[in-house]
Amino acid sequence: MKVISTERSQVFATRLARALKTTVVEVTYSRFPDGEHYLRAGVPDDEMIIVGSVVDNDALVQLLLLIDACDSSVNRLVVPYLAYARQDKRFHAGEPISIRAVAQVFSRGISDITTVNIHDRDVLRYFSIPARDISVARDLGEYIRTLDLDNPLILSPDDGALAFARQVASVGGWDVDHLEKTRLSGVEVKMAPKQLCAKGRSVFIVDDIISTGGTIATAAGMLYGQGADDVYAACVHGVLTGGAYARLMATGIRDVVCSDTIERACSKLSAADGIAHALKTP
Ligand code: R5P
Repeated sequence: MKVISTERSQVFATRLARALKTTVVEVTYSRFPDGEHYLRAGVPDDEMIIVGSVVDNDALVQLLLLIDACDSSVNRLVVPYLAYARQDKRFHAGEPISIRAVAQVFSRGISDITTVNIHDRDVLRYFSIPARDISVARDLGEYIRTLDLDNPLILSPDDGALAFARQVASVGGWDVDHLEKTRLSGVEVKMAPKQLCAKGRSVFIVDDIISTGGTIATAAGMLYGQGADDVYAACVHGVLTGGAYARLMATGIRDVVCSDTIERACSKLSAADGIAHALKTP
């Protein structure tokens, strides 16, 4: 059993291989003059663990090519970040259920798939092979513990992410709450913790994804306005679209933390050990 990965998941793949006490098979990646992807995999093992976060459309195509190059249905697929998971229903007539389309494509040529904190676990039913999702909530909690903050408040941006925030907070027995939006007028919205008070506290806003950072930037500004001492932003998948990291830091956020499902300079925790454990568990 060896590990092989797409271009954007090389660091994660190496960590995973180390955790599984195996090696990474080399791949050459390039493009044809018209932009089409090309890759050539080194000598594969009988059973491969194929790793690739779908961070964008290029990564999606590369992962499909890699699955085909490895060409064995006993291979296992690890997709630490799977884009398109947020379009999990038809919000308007005529729209696709994008994650269903992606799941159907990834259900061919492999034996099973493992993801990390997929936006909603319900979507795993769209895979026609065994699919499981692991959570790095406890790893995030352990990271927060290393900061040695005095009684931090763990906040989710909405009640949908509250279960995740609760798992994070359970590591240190910290307070947990979710932000509630109150519309003050046609243009004014207030965001504040539903039950607790942020005044004089270190606050960690935790979510599965930070994309534009818009939600967290607005919340951070308001939490500082309510007297929070420090506001941190943490997520599993640091999508960080279009300057999101810089925008968040500019709002006075103390630090932005994410896992390595998407490899970033601010990836301060790894999902590799959790995935290795899941792969070894029948
Ligand atoms: C939404 O459903 C997700 O859980 C995140 O809350 C969302 O993707 C964050 O988006 P943004 O960073 O653009 O505010």
